[in-house]
Amino acid sequence: STPVRILAIESSCDETAAAVVENGRALLSNVVATQIELHKKYGGVFPEVASREHIKTIYAVIDQALQQAHLGLSDLDAVAVTRGPGLAGSLVVGMNAAKGLVLGHNIPIVGVNHLEGHIYSAWVYRADEPATPEPKFPLMALLVSGGHTELNLMTDHITYQRLGSTLDDAAGEAFDKVARLLGLSYPGGPSIQKAAADGDPKAFTFPRARLEGTWNFSFSGLKTAVLRVVRQFEEHHEPLPVANLAASFQAAVVDVLVSKTLHAARAYKAKEILVAGGVSANRALREAFLAQKEFPVNIPPLFLCTDNAAMIGAAGYHRYQRGQRDPLDLDVLPTWPL
Ligand code: KG4
Ligand code: ZN
Repeated sequence: STPVRILAIESSCDETAAAVVENGRALLSNVVATQIELHKKYGGVFPEVASREHIKTIYAVIDQALQQAHLGLSDLDAVAVTRGPGLAGSLVVGMNAAKGLVLGHNIPIVGVNHLEGHIYSAWVYRADEPATPEPKFPLMALLVSGGHTELNLMTDHITYQRLGSTLDDAAGEAFDKVARLLGLSYPGGPSIQKAAADGDPKAFTFPRARLEGTWNFSFSGLKTAVLRVVRQFEEHHEPLPVANLAASFQAAVVDVLVSKTLHAARAYKAKEILVAGGVSANRALREAFLAQKEFPVNIPPLFLCTDNAAMIGAAGYHRYQRGQRDPLDLDVLPTWPL
């Protein structure tokens, strides 16, 4: 049968991305233009700057994705685009670019949820490499990004049962905020990981919010605990033990994420665990999940952990196969839950 080829567009935050994905899995091209350097001086994503930068780069990014795949618009079965959640001004740029492309070409638009995109990154493999094993249902998906931290049970494609989520900060947000406390640069996740490499994870005992009896998470208490220690060092005019603080903070986050996910996987008799979202790039988290042998764990390769369009193409494929065709006046949904 002829392959289904989808061009995907993602612009929900500070990455302008386009990709072509075949049959929801094989990555024919993948282009990501990151704005990280631009936002560094603000210590986080500056929304107006983000949307303006998306406008400047999106057409070049899309052209490059099509060129690298050696495809033209007429070869596409659909254009998948992130509809939300994300920054309104950033989402609109991708959405409008998608509409502009399909107009007059009779190509359907398929709106995709960014969070389901992250989950679907686990299905993607490079077309020039052997196919990776497909995740098996029912699976327990831990989604850990800059804006979200949640556990979802998936019993089938595009079917999510949210069991719990963070009551305050997302895991990535905690990394970003604690990095700032420690004087480390944005984005905080990679900075903390780097600093933690030379630190002792047992140097400080930080709280683990277990929230027993629920599948929810909480990271604001941990962040406050780090802040309290930082203040003590400042009051005593002592240099911050940045490496030890970073390592101990990271260990607390990893501990909670791994134990809760394993617990949920057991409770719901999952066949596999899937970990996705920007924080799934964290080495300590990956190692902790791979060290346990109770459940097979599917974590996307590093280049698919942070925002990209390949994952949107993979999720879009399943929506397309189910008949989803969105109208040309499709709106963005900045707070769209999974
Ligand atoms: O999924 P993502 O790229 O964007 C959102 O959808 O939010 O996730 C970005 C988040 C940021 O908070 C960033 O600090 C975190 O992922 N992150 C990491 C690492 N790489 C990115 N956190 C911990 N360790 C990392 N290596
Ligand atoms: Zn994301």
